[in-house]
Amino acid sequence: MRAYQFTGYGPTSSKVVLTDLAAPVAQRGEVLIEIHAASLNPIDYKIVRGDLKRVVSYKLPHRLGYDLSGVVTAVGEGVTRFKSGDEVYARTSGDSIGSFAQTIALNQDYVAMKPSNLPHDQAAALPLVGLTTVQGLVDRVHVKSGQSILIHAGSGGVGTFAVQYCKHLGMNVTATTSSRNAEFVKSLGADRVIAYDKENYLDAGQTYDVVYDTLGGAVTSDSFKVVKRGGVVLSLSGPPDRGFPERVGAGLVVRLAVWMMSRKVYAAAKQAGASYCWYLTEPSGRQLTDIAKIVESGAIKPVIDREFPFDRLLDALTHLQSGRARGKIVLKVR
Ligand SMILES: NC(=O)c1ccc[n+]([C@@H]2O[C@H](COP(=O)([O-])OP(=O)(O)OC[C@H]3O[C@@H](n4cnc5c(N)ncnc54)[C@H](OP(=O)(O)O)[C@@H]3O)[C@@H](O)[C@H]2O)c1
Repeated sequence: MRAYQFTGYGPTSSKVVLTDLAAPVAQRGEVLIEIHAASLNPIDYKIVRGDLKRVVSYKLPHRLGYDLSGVVTAVGEGVTRFKSGDEVYARTSGDSIGSFAQTIALNQDYVAMKPSNLPHDQAAALPLVGLTTVQGLVDRVHVKSGQSILIHAGSGGVGTFAVQYCKHLGMNVTATTSSRNAEFVKSLGADRVIAYDKENYLDAGQTYDVVYDTLGGAVTSDSFKVVKRGGVVLSLSGPPDRGFPERVGAGLVVRLAVWMMSRKVYAAAKQAGASYCWYLTEPSGRQLTDIAKIVESGAIKPVIDREFPFDRLLDALTHLQSGRARGKIVLKVR
């Protein structure tokens, strides 16, 4: 079967190659999936660039890609939830990445039936951003109907899902984007859009129960200037929070490193009387089943910026790295 692999750490243009590999076999507890479509996420190029080398190391060459939608063609021993012919979607774990390929064998716990109202190319756009949104806003921050939220980068992969999801929950949503995308983000349901090239979100005269930081850098600590007392800045791109080492069972060195990295953010949090939360998304077939139901109800639609044919993954990665994608980029495998 044909599969993309990265052969070393560096630019995606020279380190990602299309190869022929032996087709995987479903082991105990795994389903074998014929992939119809995959979607790209910033973590794909960050892995290849080596940004995450200190957190996850891969034996090279290694397959690449988290998100997929496809059809089950075989099941391993002990698989109870799926059978051949099922149309499924999934977000892999960090260990099992490899959706930029014709087939993949995945733990059945990562897999769910895809939303029945969507073709594979649209379903493939949902898993990682959907799980990220639910695991952050619901599992970590416990958002409620009526609360206000500022979503940074409402036009990105995560943002386009999060804006729709927060409206589905009955929240009051403000999102940032450029003026080029302002009307589009409003059309996703945002109550207010702040176009960063016309207005600074820090000067908009509003405070929020929750700020969802998808940008990192100065935005993480600056976000405390617009969060309410008792509120929370939930970050995907800032430094790890100080509970993270304990959650992953890390030792003293990591605890000290995280403490140092997050000093500025915790100083800002203290001054604002708010809290800081950071997390890493995990695979979950159970949560993908819940997300599929919401999508089938029509409350959330995938947003696709562009689709690329299978042999143009490198162009798709270059486009994603421009940072200008509006929604998700999809790789059509079949
Ligand atoms: N911790 C985790 O587990 C986790 C999970 C998911 C994602 N992430 C991280 O979260 C980040 C966002 O992911 P993504 O998939 O949403 O990225 P993305 O789709 O590549 O984001 C692109 C979007 O960001 C917007 N944007 C860029 N700069 C902006 C700014 N200064 N203000 C407002 N909007 C801006 C762009 O809009 P314009 O073109 O209009 O500027 C574009 O629509 C990435 O760094 C990703 O790695 C982390």
